[in-house]
Amino acid sequence: MTYIQRCIACRTEFDIDARLYVCSRCGGLLDVDRREAIDTVSLRELWRERKSSLDARDRSGVWRFREFLPFPDDIDIVSLAEGNTPLYHAPRSADYCRLPQLKLKHQGCNPTGSFKDTGMTVAVTQARRLGARFVACASTGNTAASLAAYAARADLPCAIIVPGGQVSHAKLAQALDYGAKVLEIEGNFDVCMNVIRELSEDGAIYLVNSINPFRIEGQKTVAFELMEQLEWRVPDHLVLPGGNLGNSSAFGKGFRELLQSGLIDRLPRISVVQAEGAAPFARFYAQSEHGAFVNEEHPKTLASAIKIGAPVSWPKALRAVSETGGAVLTVTEQEIADAKAVIGRDGIGCEPASATTVAGIRNLVRNGVINESETVVAVLTGHLLKDTDYVMHYHNNSLIAPDNTRIAGTFANSPIRVSASLDAIRALL
Ligand code: F0G
Repeated sequence: MTYIQRCIACRTEFDIDARLYVCSRCGGLLDVDRREAIDTVSLRELWRERKSSLDARDRSGVWRFREFLPFPDDIDIVSLAEGNTPLYHAPRSADYCRLPQLKLKHQGCNPTGSFKDTGMTVAVTQARRLGARFVACASTGNTAASLAAYAARADLPCAIIVPGGQVSHAKLAQALDYGAKVLEIEGNFDVCMNVIRELSEDGAIYLVNSINPFRIEGQKTVAFELMEQLEWRVPDHLVLPGGNLGNSSAFGKGFRELLQSGLIDRLPRISVVQAEGAAPFARFYAQSEHGAFVNEEHPKTLASAIKIGAPVSWPKALRAVSETGGAVLTVTEQEIADAKAVIGRDGIGCEPASATTVAGIRNLVRNGVINESETVVAVLTGHLLKDTDYVMHYHNNSLIAPDNTRIAGTFANSPIRVSASLDAIRALL
């Protein structure tokens, strides 16, 4: 096997199939690394040709790039035809950010409506290869929905642990329908994460949160797909939301591997945006000397997907941001809500966590970190329909922030009650 797992802190190497989530020597996070260089000549053409093939591995936007995945070529994959998501021009969002152009990579167009599917196909394929009997995760909702679907495809029993009363109904409904055992516990996501990590220690449960390096392997392929869509012209900036920080880590790894293999000649600046009330990484990054990482004990945001105070993947995300010269910033609840509505006006739509990107880009332009001659891609991580309660409250001017202040419906578009008379309706049109 040409792949190994390597601790990012002490560099200890482990077998690719060692069922570890962190280094057994120092507790550091693990990366999957290749031992030999890849011959990249003609890979771009091969990847493009695969799009017209009927083989499930070729049709998946993740497995299409399998030369960079740690599996033998004939691996029996667990797939829902994930990836191959659109890259949209978004003129209204661009205007809002005062940029001539802005592109949105919509990962909400994956089979279960979020970016998690690109990692889950790989993690559940690995679970099956290892002969795992039970898969599990902690989640703010999207990982849960994704795992539930892929576990169902693999015919593997699955449990998810979610913070009771804090997950959107749409996400919970998905997990229930796909047949997962849903455990709602008292406490926030960070409590769920601690519980599931302890539970998985004896090896009976295979953990597929993004601390699992195979999740990162799948998610890194989005960098490959994005570069293909941009005809291999590297954007100046890539901006994404930060919660548990697995996705930022994955983009960092994807672009690093593209650069190392000569498929691109420079890196985009990777910037991470957090909600103001759940921003331990932004606070950490703002220190001139990075001391100890201090968790946020009571994270608060209406963007429930990223309501996380103890992000497990921060060391990897730190590497992604610092080696590319990116920024880490926060945005307010009002900024998230308004940016979300603006993205909606582009006919695209996303969930609140994803809208941190456009809100963040607007601030980065205003502060001169992004200038208007630069190319910018924002990653939308989840679909609009993931959290419709939020959307309805915003448009009805009844969205209340965690500090009990009312969010202004700056771009509200409330439904209008009207009698069923043609004249009355005509008068309104
Ligand atoms: N956007 C959405 C829609 C998410 O669901 C998440 C994370 C993030 C952004 C943040 O990504 O954690 O890789 O930094 N959701 C996880 C979940 C935590 O359980 O569904 P991250």
